[in-house]
Amino acid sequence: MKNTETMMTKQWRPFIHFTPEKNWLNDPNGMVYFNDMYHLFFQYNPTGDKHGNMHWGHAQSTDLVNWQEKDIAIYADPDGLGYVFSGGAVVDVNNTSGLGDGTVPPLVATFTHHSKDEVQVQSLAYSQDGGDTWVEYANNPVIANPGLKDFRDPKVIWDEENSQWVMALAVEHFIYFYISSNLIDWTFASQFGEGYGTHGRVWECPDLFPLTTPCGITKWVLIVSLDPAGPNGGTGTQYFIGEFDGKQFISDHTETRWLDYGPDNYAGVTWDGLQPTSNKRIFIAWMSNWVYANDLPTNPWRGGMTLPRELTLVNSSKGIMLANLPSDDITSLKAEFTLTDANTLPESCAYEVVWKFDKSLGDNSITFFNSEDEKLVISYVAENNEIQLDRTQSGWNEKGFGRVATAPLKMTDENTIECSIIIDQSSVEVFTEKGLTTLTSNIFPKVPYSEFTITRTSQLECFTLINKVTS
Ligand code: FRU
Repeated sequence: MKNTETMMTKQWRPFIHFTPEKNWLNDPNGMVYFNDMYHLFFQYNPTGDKHGNMHWGHAQSTDLVNWQEKDIAIYADPDGLGYVFSGGAVVDVNNTSGLGDGTVPPLVATFTHHSKDEVQVQSLAYSQDGGDTWVEYANNPVIANPGLKDFRDPKVIWDEENSQWVMALAVEHFIYFYISSNLIDWTFASQFGEGYGTHGRVWECPDLFPLTTPCGITKWVLIVSLDPAGPNGGTGTQYFIGEFDGKQFISDHTETRWLDYGPDNYAGVTWDGLQPTSNKRIFIAWMSNWVYANDLPTNPWRGGMTLPRELTLVNSSKGIMLANLPSDDITSLKAEFTLTDANTLPESCAYEVVWKFDKSLGDNSITFFNSEDEKLVISYVAENNEIQLDRTQSGWNEKGFGRVATAPLKMTDENTIECSIIIDQSSVEVFTEKGLTTLTSNIFPKVPYSEFTITRTSQLECFTLINKVTS
C-alpha cells in the first residue's frame, strides 16, 4: 500500500495562488465582493481528485492573496436536479428577487444543474448572511432546458442603464442573453456568435460587462471560453468588444482575440459587487486545460486558480483591446531582490523577474533551470515577432502537457519589450505589452528553478512576492 504522506506533492503547493486543501477543483464560480470580503466559489468534487460529483466549494479573502477555505456552499443533488455546474453570483442590492430577509441584501447565485441524464437547467441559490451559507431556491429551475445538450454557465450582471438583470448563457457554441427584473423570471433576448471568433465544440463560461477606457469611452466586453481550439491546443479564452443595447450584443470585430495565449487559463470570469465603489473588473481563471486536467501530478489537491487580474481597456494600433495584469493586491507584495552575477533566484517564495530587451537585437531568450536539468525557456522569436513559452523540459511532461506555446506581439511599432514573469511553485505567468499579451502555464519541476540565463543583452530586475500573512 502506498503511504499517502510520500504521495503528497508539497513542493508544488503555490504560495500566492488559490488551491483547495484537497480534491478536485475546476472553474471559478459565483465570485462576489460584499462587506469587504471577496468570495470565490469553485467547481469542486469533495469525494475525489477527478472531475465529477460537482458541488460549489467556497473560499474567502479580504485581499485576494490569503484565502480561507470554507464549507461547501452548494451541494449536488444527484437524484434530483443534479450536479452543480458553473455560474455567477450578484449582490441583489434592492432585493428585487424578494429572497432577502429585509436586513442585508441577499447574494443570489445563478448556476446550472446538470442531471444524471445530462439535462442542463438554470437554478438559483441565495445567501441571507453575506455569503456564509446558501439556500437553494424552492422553485428551481428558473430556466428550463429547451431540448439542447449544452445549455449552461449563467453569469448575471445588473444593467444600470436599462434597470434590468442580464444573463449571459453558453448554449452549444453560441451565447444566449436573457433579461429579468427579479432574477427569477427570465425572458430570452438575443443570441450572439455566428461568424464571430473561434468556435470549437462548445462555448462555455461567458461574462458580459461594461468597461470604460482611460479616455472615458464605455464599451461592453464579452468573455467566452471555448473547448477545444484554444490558441495553443485544448481549451482557451477569447473576448469580444462591442456594444450592448439592453437586448443585443454587437461585437466591433469578427476576428478572434485571445485573452491569454498560455495553455492554462480557462473558464475565467470577473467579480461582481466591486463596481459601485471602485469600477474595477477583477478576473480569475482556472489554471488548467481539459486536455490533461484530470492527470496533473499534484496530491492531495488537483487544480488551482490563476493570479487575480485587473481587466482594463487599452487603445492600441489595432483599436480598443482588453489587457489583463496582476491586481494591485499582488503587486503590493513586491520587494526588490538583488540579483548576483549568477542570476540566482529567490527561494521559498513566489517571485517576479522583469526582463526588458530591444527587439532590434533579434532573437532573445531567458532560461530558468534547476539542479535536475529541468528548464523553462521563454523566448522572443524575431522572425515571427512572437513570444514563445517552452515547457517541454520544465519537469513533469505527460498527457500532451509538453508543448511550446506562442503569442504574437501586437504593438508592431514598439522596439522595447518588457516581460514580467511571475513564477510560483507550479506555475509561470508572463505579462507583456502592458497586459495585452499574456501566457499562463502550469509547470511541475522536481525542485524549484534556482537560476536563470539570458542569451542577449537585457535589463533585468527581480522581486520577491511574499505573502505576509500565513494562515
Ligand atoms: C468548463 C465547464 C463548464 C461546466 C463545468 C463543469 O470548464 O465545462 O462549462 O459548467 O466545467 O464542471
